[in-house]
Amino acid sequence: MSPFQTLNLPNGQTIGNRIAKAAMEENLADTRQAPSDALLRLYQAWAGGEAGLLLTGNVMIDRRAMTGPGGVALEDEQHLERFRQWATIGRAGGAQFWVQLNHPGRQTMANLGQQAWAPSAVALDLGSFSKMFAEPKPMTESDIHEVIQRFATSAALAEKAGFTGVQIHAAHGYLLSQFLSPLTNRRTDQWGGSLENRARLLLEVVSAVRKTVSPKFCVSVKLNSADFQRGGFDADDARQVIQWLNEQQIDLLELSGGSYEAPAMQGEARDGRTLAREAYFLEMAGELARVARMPVMVTGGHSSLGHRRTRARQRHRHGRDRHRDGG
Ligand SMILES: Cc1cc2nc3c(=O)[nH]c(=O)nc-3n(C[C@H](O)[C@H](O)[C@H](O)COP(=O)(O)O)c2cc1C
Repeated sequence: MSPFQTLNLPNGQTIGNRIAKAAMEENLADTRQAPSDALLRLYQAWAGGEAGLLLTGNVMIDRRAMTGPGGVALEDEQHLERFRQWATIGRAGGAQFWVQLNHPGRQTMANLGQQAWAPSAVALDLGSFSKMFAEPKPMTESDIHEVIQRFATSAALAEKAGFTGVQIHAAHGYLLSQFLSPLTNRRTDQWGGSLENRARLLLEVVSAVRKTVSPKFCVSVKLNSADFQRGGFDADDARQVIQWLNEQQIDLLELSGGSYEAPAMQGEARDGRTLAREAYFLEMAGELARVARMPVMVTGGHSSLGHRRTRARQRHRHGRDRHRDGG
């Protein structure tokens, strides 16, 4: 398979090639949390790069819950014209252009002065840096329903502004990922406990988004292949969640890993595991892709196109040498 081959998505849309610009928070919002001129200029450059898919950095569904002061928020029509300009610029080179929607949950910096909402009152443990994060407050049933509604509203606004899809961020230890992990979700109601309960928020969000947007609008999920923390969300959990996502109309599943506590997406696991030096999640993603009915994208540590072939060759040579040595 060539990386320059078109990818057909389940909703009938296409991505021109297999190269995507993953979400990278730009911190380039203006003072109203709307896209600034600098952000538009950045995407003019990305749009000229010929990637088939451009994902925005995470855009917040609630301006009261930000990952940083320079974050973009999309919660109403106030700055829709600016989002329209952003969408037009990002699509100018023919790429699919999707807004990544996010809620930080407990990964909220204390100096923002905002309330950190979370499944449970489990604060981040980052040693001497823990105090940099706000004390999380467990969400009430109505807080949870508001979050579901907000994801749907932001997705509808993204479509209205002219983006071609959204990605629901359920990875990297943010709110939806916190609900998925037994380490951060200690709830005893229908939103916690069993994996089915912990996955309920993600599945409800996906379903609400899908119902709000049109069928041709792409809906993607970014999920951890694992949290890389002992007792956290692991590959078996991911496999089951993917099977549940198979029942929803997802157009692309992006697999990553880790959180602020265990930054596997930057190549660092905290459960004693050694991540591959390149394409960190490629092997796990290969296994998970076997159960996924939607196309799968893997992010993290790619630095060469021929990497998969090189590793396969190395494994083959290693096996041959072991056989020869009798090991
Ligand atoms: C500056 C920066 C900002 C990032 N912001 C986001 C983000 O907003 N949403 C997200 O899902 N991932 C974010 N990531 C993670 C990337 O999408 C990706 O998973 C990670 O960088 C690993 O890929 P790489 O090795 O190709 O850089 C960010 C990464 C960087 C370096």
